[in-house]
Amino acid sequence: MAEFRLPANSKVKKGKYFKAADGVTNVRKFNIYRWNEDDGENPRVDTYEVDMDKCGPMVLDGLIKIKNEIDPTLTFRRSCREGVCGSCAMNVAGTNTLACTKANDEIKGDINIYPLPHMEVVKDLVTDLTHFYAQYSSIKPWMQTVSPTPSGAERLQSPEDRAKLDGLYECVLCASCSTSCPSYWWNSDKYLGPAVLLQAYRWLIDSRDEATGERLDDLEDPFRLYRCHTIMNCTNTCPKGLNPAKAIAEIKKMMVERQG
Ligand code: SF4
Ligand code: FES
Repeated sequence: MAEFRLPANSKVKKGKYFKAADGVTNVRKFNIYRWNEDDGENPRVDTYEVDMDKCGPMVLDGLIKIKNEIDPTLTFRRSCREGVCGSCAMNVAGTNTLACTKANDEIKGDINIYPLPHMEVVKDLVTDLTHFYAQYSSIKPWMQTVSPTPSGAERLQSPEDRAKLDGLYECVLCASCSTSCPSYWWNSDKYLGPAVLLQAYRWLIDSRDEATGERLDDLEDPFRLYRCHTIMNCTNTCPKGLNPAKAIAEIKKMMVERQG
């Protein structure tokens, strides 16, 4: 029988409260989703009072401070801390973003932090991206050629053709867009989602690539591409200011043009 309520062990409970030291005046509360499969408990939201006079400006600075000084069990991914590795993507104040480029000052009230939505949680803020990466791999994100490589030279591209990659190559594969997309939430088993489709377009539009027809054949499918219903959450959420919805529209246009 269909189940319309959350199973009892999925309900998010109120968690622990970590108070700031006496005398600290510039305090902000970080409410953070916690879940650890190993303890068999329900997910919970822990609250940490953070001394903002001794905290860096970004949400990631707050998380690192909490982990270093208050609660070493808090688990999250991060690496570059400057918006280029894509690993610190999470839901901050209701929007998927990169914790390292989101300033605490941009958020009003408490700083609420959850993992990327509709993804399996490995622990706390870490989600399982295995399927996402497999989908990325499925679009063959490398240059495919049939013509012989020019001897002793690179495959050249005009400045105009190179400019077509702007707005695409900057993607850091953080998955913020895909995990903000309702079509992806319900059909991620078959729909590739905005991040992977933006990457697919990046190779379709590359003047040096010689597999355009095969790439379009692979995407010609009611789910893989056409499950995009132009909801636009992807473009609104992208922390790098990219426009996956436009890239998807361009792929659909290429599909139509090749019929003609
Ligand atoms: S398009 Fe933007 S939100 Fe989507 S994966 Fe790339 S950088 Fe992240
Ligand atoms: S830590 Fe690399 S993008 Fe945030």
